[in-house]
Amino acid sequence: MFELRCISCGQSYSNDVVIFNCSCGGLLEVLIDINKISVKKRDLSRRPLGVWRYKEFLPIDPDDHIISLKEGGTPLYRGRNIGRMVGLTELFIKNEGGNPTGSFKDRGMTVGVTKALHFGSKFVCCASTGNTSASLAAYAAKAGIKCIVLLPSGNIALGKLAQAILHGALVVEIKGNFDVALNLIRKASKDLNLYLLNSINPWRLEGQKTEAFEILEQLDYNVPNTVLVPMGNCGNISAIWKGFKEFYEIGFINKLPRMIGIQAEGASPVVEAFKNGREDIIPINYPNTIATAIKIGSPVNAPKALQAIKESKGLIESVNDNEIMKAQKLLARFEGVGVEPASAASLAGVIKLCKLGIVKEDERVVCITTGHAMKDPEMIFNNYEKTIEIEPRIEDLRKILKT
Ligand code: F0G
Repeated sequence: MFELRCISCGQSYSNDVVIFNCSCGGLLEVLIDINKISVKKRDLSRRPLGVWRYKEFLPIDPDDHIISLKEGGTPLYRGRNIGRMVGLTELFIKNEGGNPTGSFKDRGMTVGVTKALHFGSKFVCCASTGNTSASLAAYAAKAGIKCIVLLPSGNIALGKLAQAILHGALVVEIKGNFDVALNLIRKASKDLNLYLLNSINPWRLEGQKTEAFEILEQLDYNVPNTVLVPMGNCGNISAIWKGFKEFYEIGFINKLPRMIGIQAEGASPVVEAFKNGREDIIPINYPNTIATAIKIGSPVNAPKALQAIKESKGLIESVNDNEIMKAQKLLARFEGVGVEPASAASLAGVIKLCKLGIVKEDERVVCITTGHAMKDPEMIFNNYEKTIEIEPRIEDLRKILKT
């Protein structure tokens, strides 16, 4: 029922080989025979919220031992206050920070680590800007297997680094950026027989497509017009689009949203390609943005993302660090939703596109916020108000309250 297929040349592969690229070099995706799935909307709605609610759509064998931390089932908030400010009547925030390790990566890792066990792997690995490593470390711990993570030295938000250490991963900082670390781990995974769980791993992305399933259920199958996703390595937007397409193919919805990818200015090679009508990406050697999660100069899944944008008649835009910080503050102070900078890129994107008239007032819009605010506390201390210290006296408190 599931097999791997190359998105470039169409070559298919059995689902029982460990492979991350087609022999032509193309990216692989999981092909699923929707006609063989007989589950109904009603069946789904009776099950507990979370990734495994959609088990028929997930590529595992019946006898696989599922490694789960009860991921998914994240809240979809109606952003009424910000909606009013930016002129949108139906703005929603899908807050993936609500996952067990605080980011959407957990949806992928529950499938990916289950698959690692299926293949008999004893050692999992990834390169990461932080969230993938935090998530993989936790799932490897649950599975009882070893984990090594390669991180760009000095460029990991503190909360994420702490998580990887806490969960017992072997944490290695590489003198180079994320792209350098990813190249190294891709080679190492082959040479040293480590199971690779970056988003180049097509099984992992299958878990992430459940973001789309949940959004549709949470909106009572009222399909959004537009879905905005922060883009780094470009796996997530591709996975979410695949999810929407599968619910369309099975007949749960009769139209599809348009996908809008948002990159951070300074780390936006896919925006450049999209705006110039190119399919190839010119890598950025020294990507730079406050949103360290998406500080990526050579996104491996760019071809999948460009395909999703094309199929959905969507677009890709960039936002600068000021716009990102402004959006983070709006979410925190007008909706009570704390997100890390990369996550706020989706809202920053919708604000920009509303001003340009590209997103219209009457659209039903969903912004995916990908990671929790506590992932990056340093950024908050460096950019927000300082705390005040006083003597324990009521007069001093009164003075402060007056100012
Ligand atoms: N938002 C957050 C918070 C992320 O951590 C990432 C990716 C993205 C968005 C972009 O997702 O790569 O699928 O386009 N973080 C990866 C990591 C690269 O290593 O944690 P993408």
